[in-house]
Amino acid sequence: MAFRSMATRITPSRLGARGYYFNSASKYSVGSSASQKSEKKPIDYVQVYKDIADILEDDDYDDGSYGPVLLRLAWHASGTYDKDTKTGGSNAASMRFEPEALHDANNGLKIARDYLEPIKAKYPDISYGDLWTLAGVVAVQELGGPTIPWRPGRKDGLSAESCTPDGRLPDAAKKEDHIRSIFYRMGFNDQEIVALTGAHALGRCHPDRSGFDGPWSEQPTFFSNEYFKVISERQWVKKDLPNGGWQWVDKNNPTVMMLPSEIAVYKDKDFSKYFELYAKDEAKFYEDFTKAFTRLLELGVPFKGDEKVYKFETINA
Ligand code: HEM
Repeated sequence: MAFRSMATRITPSRLGARGYYFNSASKYSVGSSASQKSEKKPIDYVQVYKDIADILEDDDYDDGSYGPVLLRLAWHASGTYDKDTKTGGSNAASMRFEPEALHDANNGLKIARDYLEPIKAKYPDISYGDLWTLAGVVAVQELGGPTIPWRPGRKDGLSAESCTPDGRLPDAAKKEDHIRSIFYRMGFNDQEIVALTGAHALGRCHPDRSGFDGPWSEQPTFFSNEYFKVISERQWVKKDLPNGGWQWVDKNNPTVMMLPSEIAVYKDKDFSKYFELYAKDEAKFYEDFTKAFTRLLELGVPFKGDEKVYKFETINA
């Protein structure tokens, strides 16, 4: 289904929920970033946002938008952080290098990295870490989600030495203990884990990327609390996959799926209360997602502290 048609599905209650953030957000402005050397022209991040927003929609790609795969790129660039060693995270954009580019978890993300290359060519001074995380912000906002405060300041790693070891991102075939240990390592708690996973309202699994197959909802180009409604309101049955693995599918609409890890997390008593909360209260989901996702994108970034925080105006949603 095309993104254009999804973008028109905004109910008054959703506008109300988003209005909260717009009211609390100061109007963006273009400023010179402290990270820029004085001889360089300041990067117009507001224009970068607009340029990415302009290229999101494509009826010939997946469900009509590059937003979901760009959001997955932003998350996989950031979710490698280890709070104990203070390594990984979005700073170095180390996924540009092998072996990290070839880690199984990053299958398919070359599409997202390549898709942003024309933007990088237009703004050669932007770091890849800033570009990828900003693209994640654009995806969330332009597909109907909350305003995500964002600041620049990431510096590109120069070689494969910046790569993180394999295994830092979650394995969807595993269970709740694994998911906890992966996200606790980044510094997130149970509530934040559930809030972040709500991003699966967007996008789909691809057999040639993860081996899993299908979207998490009937509206995969529309950010909302739909993920929590779908997981808690439907009947899930196991389906074997051609690659020898399996996934959960909705008994009444088997095109809609859940990963083995997700139902395991959902059934865990300490996690399940947050699924109930977010299924009932979209504004609370938006509030918690905004906080957790902003922090995710900043993990491991050595900000100087005087960077401007941008709250970009959403264009299409
Ligand atoms: C909780 C642990 C998580 C697991 C096990 C997981 C696993 C997966 C898998 C297997 C896919 C399918 C990839 C493909 O075949 O194309 C996927 C896609 C996706 N994930 Fe996650 N994920 C997790 C958390 C997150 C988080 C925290 C975010 C963002 C905040 C996120 C955002 C996405 C998006 C937007 C897609 C769709 C990509 C597309 O449509 O191309 N995921 N995830």
